[in-house]
Amino acid sequence: MGYPFRYPLRFILLSLHLFVTGESATSTTDTLSQTGSLSDGQTLISLNKTFELGFFSPNGSSNRYVGIWYYKIPLQTPVWIANRNNPLLDTSGVLYINNNGELMIVDRIGRSFVVAYYNPGGKDVEATILDSGNLVLRETNNSSSIIWQSFDYPTDTWLPGMKLGVTEGQHRLTTSWRSSSDPTTGDFAFGLDSSQLFIWQKNVVSWSSGLWNGTSFAHNPELSEPPFGSLNFVSDSEGVYCTFSSIYYTRFVVDMTGQTREFTWVDSQGDWVLFWSVPHATCEVYNVCGVFGLCNDMALPACTCVQGFVPASQSDWDNGDKSRGCVRQSRLQCSTSQ
Ligand SMILES: *[C@@H]1O[C@H](CO)[C@@H](O)[C@H](O)[C@H]1NC(C)=O
Ligand SMILES: *[C@@H]1O[C@H](CO)[C@@H](O)[C@H](O)[C@H]1NC(C)=O
Ligand SMILES: *[C@@H]1O[C@H](CO)[C@@H](O)[C@H](O)[C@H]1NC(C)=O
Ligand SMILES: *[C@@H]1O[C@H](CO)[C@@H](O)[C@H](O)[C@H]1NC(C)=O
Ligand SMILES: *[C@@H]1O[C@H](CO)[C@@H](O)[C@H](O)[C@H]1NC(C)=O
Repeated sequence: MGYPFRYPLRFILLSLHLFVTGESATSTTDTLSQTGSLSDGQTLISLNKTFELGFFSPNGSSNRYVGIWYYKIPLQTPVWIANRNNPLLDTSGVLYINNNGELMIVDRIGRSFVVAYYNPGGKDVEATILDSGNLVLRETNNSSSIIWQSFDYPTDTWLPGMKLGVTEGQHRLTTSWRSSSDPTTGDFAFGLDSSQLFIWQKNVVSWSSGLWNGTSFAHNPELSEPPFGSLNFVSDSEGVYCTFSSIYYTRFVVDMTGQTREFTWVDSQGDWVLFWSVPHATCEVYNVCGVFGLCNDMALPACTCVQGFVPASQSDWDNGDKSRGCVRQSRLQCSTSQ
């Protein structure tokens, strides 16, 4: 699956090193140093205990991922994943910084994945999970020197303070999970391009907000007036991007149905409450139920197969991935009559 099988020895050496020095992270730190490491089961926790970083499995999967979730929210809600397309198959994973200052994930049989590159200088670097949910790689002796940050590589979630759009020539957008149990890069993306927000399905626009007119987006003026914060469109020397703020835990997520939803955590309900979503109806999303699928917004679930057809993959379909659509239940009788 495209793993570079390069580092078995390094992993063994790393394990020995840990054994000898005992320098593994404890649950009370927000920082991974160049001499430390984080094993599956250990976590980093941001200073004010807002976000936690560690290994996790999505609901319904046994694959292991390095992710970031809210420390205080009982429903584990991942907002970022380091290795969404390179899952670990067991709990032998270790996150560490190598001698080149690269943030790496390696497992027992030596499969490795580079999360963050850093080359120049041979300086000491460290990785810190901030209270914004941003994982930053910085020079150890200079906390303002951000070399790499997870906010530049969003998964499916747009968080307060994260710049969605084009900055420094790089297009930052969020991309859906494949299904509710599979965070692999899916078909839908949500982002900003030339003054409006878009949802794309495989690079084809499936929704747009209309142009920013200075105070709001043409088709969705409500978006810029959240009661608990603000949304800003910025065009400056850094680029063109959107950011938002909120006094509550709030996140925008693009999902495998092609909808982008804004959720706010409501303590009294113990749940994420849907605040806003586009397109308003599931069936407005082009081809949302796949080939030979039917969409009905009045029904739950909205997707069914046309008569005589069944989901191409029942498990994908059940987990929310309808992209393979439906196939004929039994072979056509006429197919043999040629
Ligand atoms: C952390 O909490 C302290 C005390 O509540 C507060 O003064 C500080 O601004 C918070 N820092 C961040 C980064 O949220
Ligand atoms: C996981 O799935 C179960 C059963 O569907 C559900 O009750 C639970 O809330 C889910 N957990 C999360 C974190 O989504
Ligand atoms: C920080 O690192 C740079 C580059 O390695 C070095 O020149 C500088 O002296 C260091 N500063 C401190 C305070 O250690
Ligand atoms: C720390 O990093 C920032 C950003 O790269 C840089 O502007 C500043 O000069 C550095 N400070 C020191 C003491 O090296
Ligand atoms: C932008 O659009 C909103 C909503 O349609 C409207 O209320 C506002 O006055 C417009 N602002 C400008 C500067 O045109």
